[in-house]
Amino acid sequence: MAKNKSYNRAYVILIAAIAAFGGLLFGFDTGVISGALLLIKDDPALVINGMEQLPERTQEWIVSITVLGAAVGALGSGRITDKLGRKKVLIIIAFVFALGSVGLAAANSVAALIIWRLIIGLAIGVASYTVPLYISEISPTHVRGALVSINQLAITVGIFASYLVDLGFANYPEGWRWMFLVGLVPSLILFIGMFFLPDTPRWLMSFKGEDKARKVLDRVGETNKEEVLQQIKTNIEKETRQQQSSWSILTAKWVRPTLIIGVGIMIFQQFVGINTIIYYSPTIFEMAGFGADSANAVYDAILPSLPIGAVNVIFTIVSIYLVDRWGRKPLLYLGMIGMVVALVALGIGFTFHDSIGGALKWISFVSMIIYIPFFAISLGPIAWLLISEVYPTKIRGLGMSLATMVNWAANFLIANTFLSLGKVTTGQMANPAGEGMLVNPGGAFFIYAAIGILGLIFVYSYIPETKGHSLEKIEEHFLAGKHPKDL
Ligand code: BGC
Repeated sequence: MAKNKSYNRAYVILIAAIAAFGGLLFGFDTGVISGALLLIKDDPALVINGMEQLPERTQEWIVSITVLGAAVGALGSGRITDKLGRKKVLIIIAFVFALGSVGLAAANSVAALIIWRLIIGLAIGVASYTVPLYISEISPTHVRGALVSINQLAITVGIFASYLVDLGFANYPEGWRWMFLVGLVPSLILFIGMFFLPDTPRWLMSFKGEDKARKVLDRVGETNKEEVLQQIKTNIEKETRQQQSSWSILTAKWVRPTLIIGVGIMIFQQFVGINTIIYYSPTIFEMAGFGADSANAVYDAILPSLPIGAVNVIFTIVSIYLVDRWGRKPLLYLGMIGMVVALVALGIGFTFHDSIGGALKWISFVSMIIYIPFFAISLGPIAWLLISEVYPTKIRGLGMSLATMVNWAANFLIANTFLSLGKVTTGQMANPAGEGMLVNPGGAFFIYAAIGILGLIFVYSYIPETKGHSLEKIEEHFLAGKHPKDL
């Protein structure tokens, strides 16, 4: 019996680990551009009309088209994930990721780069919710939080790996082609691996019948198999009685709280400014006075991101350990309080940079290094986890795709306004490393801190504690029209 149980555990972890390659690609392909861009903008094969560098607007498009693509991909594919099944969708996007990696590596014009970055973005958008959805639906209840969070771990490993790959190819003139091509490896692992994995019992029950669902529950070793099967069946019947089509379920009164939870938690995940740190850390370090006048400027600009990437990975592991022990809400409280404190410290540092002088360098570095672990134990994994838990089975794909679209749209908004927000609120400051002026980002950090406080109130008053409840129990709670917090 014990042997059987541990075999199943190994099987479930294997399933989560293979599917999480989708998360790794999400992290890798959003992270890789930070280093690749430094080479792309100076590549004579791409620079047009005798200009020295690609114009800034063009650079911005190369970076941000992927985030826009992800928003579109997420929203456009919700119904497909419910219709085709989670497994098939993951196989298709693995193929798109592979194609995109080769396409980017071979791109010979700015237009080609932008088109391939858009295609990769579409795949990221779909992957970003289909992976947690797949893992959540296939996991036994008591380890669901940890298993779904493997996806966030993979995202952070992907980001960290992209920094390392960027560093490795930084000194090659066309190194950016290799940086993109490395993405082919995880794409192929996902593509091949998914062929051997089953679809989820929840999806199978909804669309392919009870026998197939039972078989998968058997293989993953769900201890309350018959009870879970019965609950899935009852909920699907109740859902069908309530409303016929998926879109109308989405507007049903009992589903509304789940939409507010999903959209709300995603807005807060992005509006606390995580990606100003992930995408702009070299820029922020420059503002804080880390000098960059050396022969290896590209290398030097990528290097300081490494500790940020590493801390992000390490504390995501801590979160995986704690999420099914402490629960989701205590981690959210702890993480968000820590983030607010770090953001306020960053805001104060930059706003009073005149009186602080050289210490700003260290205040900013320490604050950022503190901010990241608090994000990594809380909003990072738990936002994705919650949206994989709160929606009813029939529209789980659709609901998650909606929340994910909001996540990417919010990401786009923050990444695109970080510098302007700083400029409007705290103006400019002298470049600590030399001549000229730089934006002072202090005001932006204060705004993110204020949003963090609102987020804490939202978590306290609206987020359910889902720890230890089966997906069916959670659904029953909403079907009964009860307040989310009372779960
Ligand atoms: C977020 C991303 C972010 C990453 C950082 C994810 O949960 O959705 O926007 O870049 O965490 O680790």
